[in-house]
Amino acid sequence: MAKLKIGVLISGRGSNMAALIAAAKAADYPAEVAVVVSNVAGAPGLKIAQDAGIATAVIPHKGFPDRETFDRAVSAELEKRGVGLVALAGFMRIQSPWFPTHWKDRIINIHPSLLPSFPGLRVQQQALDAGARVSGCTVHFVTPDLDAGPIIAQAAVPVLPDDTADTLAARILRQEHRLYPMVVRWFAEGRLSVAGSRVAVAGVPPTATLLFSPEP
Ligand code: GRF
Repeated sequence: MAKLKIGVLISGRGSNMAALIAAAKAADYPAEVAVVVSNVAGAPGLKIAQDAGIATAVIPHKGFPDRETFDRAVSAELEKRGVGLVALAGFMRIQSPWFPTHWKDRIINIHPSLLPSFPGLRVQQQALDAGARVSGCTVHFVTPDLDAGPIIAQAAVPVLPDDTADTLAARILRQEHRLYPMVVRWFAEGRLSVAGSRVAVAGVPPTATLLFSPEP
């Protein structure tokens, strides 16, 4: 069966993009990274993609008169490559409502907190400032509301007493790299269905693992 083509949008490091590229190397993985698009010319993730033989495109947002015109240019690039799923992976550009509306139910994002807690930026510091004992990451469908679309999957990690924003970010990032390829697989296998704000994942048993932090 033909693999689902994914388009990954990045602005920087690209470690989640790299995790998707690595997962897609497996012969039985149902998706492939067709193109990586960055709005930042020097994004380190671009080189990772190029070294892996993946097509890349740089579309600097500064060259466009407004958000929607930029978004339409990005979208045209994705469509040219036959993309069926857009994966935002550290894409640091707020999109016009046009983009998630155009790609409705075919665009996902990964965010380093357990949404709806701690949307936006400086997310790990927000978790520390709030005294949270558990944080994690969320993969969700993208809607015009920032960090607020239907949640597909989450992974939780403990917040430890000595954590800094950096140590917490690193612990969460390890789980991001597991969660994102897993969700893309489910999407490609046609297992996800959205009903309002809830997403059903067909064929996945409810989790039996509890995380206590601190341990009882
Ligand atoms: C990740 O923490 C992701 O959750 C957030 O931005 C960061 C991107 O990191 N949206 P990378 O570029 O994937 O390494």
